[in-house]
Amino acid sequence: MSHVEARSPLAFSATADAYATTMAPALEPVAAEVVRRAVLRPGEAVLDAGTGTGNAARLAVGDGRRVVGVDAAPGMLDIARRSSSDVELVRADFGRLPFDGATFDVVVSVHALLFAADRVAALREWRRVVSSGGRLSLSVPGPAAVTPQAVFGHVYERYGVGGRSDDFPDAATMADWAARAGWGDVETDSDPAAVIELAGPEAFRTWLRIGRTRSRWSRERLEAFAMDLMDACPRAPGGAFRIPFGALYLHARKDA
Ligand SMILES: C[S@@+](CC[C@H](N)C(=O)[O-])C[C@H]1O[C@@H](n2cnc3c(N)ncnc32)[C@H](O)[C@@H]1O
Repeated sequence: MSHVEARSPLAFSATADAYATTMAPALEPVAAEVVRRAVLRPGEAVLDAGTGTGNAARLAVGDGRRVVGVDAAPGMLDIARRSSSDVELVRADFGRLPFDGATFDVVVSVHALLFAADRVAALREWRRVVSSGGRLSLSVPGPAAVTPQAVFGHVYERYGVGGRSDDFPDAATMADWAARAGWGDVETDSDPAAVIELAGPEAFRTWLRIGRTRSRWSRERLEAFAMDLMDACPRAPGGAFRIPFGALYLHARKDA
């Protein structure tokens, strides 16, 4: 499954078109909430870490703010570039940012932190680039009970597909990561209702392509996998697939 397998930004890159038509629209409301919680002020400098196709970065633009989106996947940045003319887009690893300390007032990040091999180290790097009193507003999928793992876990198991055991941390774990990275005033919240809604089987198969670059599976096995996932997937009254994803929000501050 896309989310479970898309470990590498290069996998995102190769399937950025599939991401742009399925995940990106589904995450727009989450990005809006992350930006709302950041309480941006006029003239601030904002970094969107793991900007992907630019969801949060675009929403941060305005009131004279400088907005920079960083992503390691060139294919995602290509799509972001088409729709984010007022955003500076930079290809970089968000764990080793090409910026001096205290370059930004705010870091926002939408459903990207969990792709860091070392989440605490990434949060420490994001703290480095904000000034004293700077803020962090991010989201990750969760809580675990409302993620794809919860509805598809038995299918993943049957096909030998798995994620990391800490793919879907609870709010307390995430708060602990932030505190260990040096962030203060850490607050968390969750929205278990966030979903990825896909209109039909074609959109579902498109979503499934995300992060799947060189599958060794036969066409038949892939199709059986897709059918089993669709069978297990909750549906909206009109028939659309509603994949639970959830959103855990974290807000924190770098002590002045
Ligand atoms: C689930 S997507 C979220 C994208 C975007 N924030 C959104 O709201 O749609 C995760 C993004 O993180 C990026 N990413 C993963 N690991 C990264 C890293 N180490 N450095 C920079 N970007 C990374 C991926 O390329 C991908 O675009």
